[in-house]
Amino acid sequence: MKYQAESHSLNLMSGRVPEGVVQSLGIGDQPWLKESALIIAVTAKLGDAVQHFKAQPPQGERGARYVYMETGALAQNVHLQSTALGVGCVLVAGFDNARVKEVLRLPSDLEPTALLCIGQRRAS
Ligand SMILES: Cc1cc2nc3c(=O)[nH]c(=O)nc-3n(C[C@H](O)[C@H](O)[C@H](O)COP(=O)(O)O)c2cc1C
Repeated sequence: MKYQAESHSLNLMSGRVPEGVVQSLGIGDQPWLKESALIIAVTAKLGDAVQHFKAQPPQGERGARYVYMETGALAQNVHLQSTALGVGCVLVAGFDNARVKEVLRLPSDLEPTALLCIGQRRAS
């Protein structure tokens, strides 16, 4: 699903990601990737941000810093809401960027910055 800021709605982007594939996105063993009920993938137009702030020092880094700060603030809000709902949340930043882009079929200008693993699957 893709969040549409203008209409505050979600658009279906692609089909369900198979369980085994989700687990393979992480660097090292991260069982919460397959155990969580829901994963929110946070993405950003990193290249656009870097370009926009390219004149500000440190050149080429300022825009990326803002993107990662925004990602952290967003992640904190998701953590707070998860806690309010009584479910767990794990922020995962250790993932294979190219693999996440491929599996989620992200447009080339969108970079994944965080995976938020929320809740726990019920045993089926
Ligand atoms: C920027 C950032 C990146 C993180 N990346 C990972 C990660 O890739 N994998 C992971 O297991 N935990 C990661 N963590 C830690 C977890 O999100 C979580 O904070 C940690 O497991 C502690 O949780 P607990 O205190 O509730 O046990 C990261 C934390 C931060 C702040």
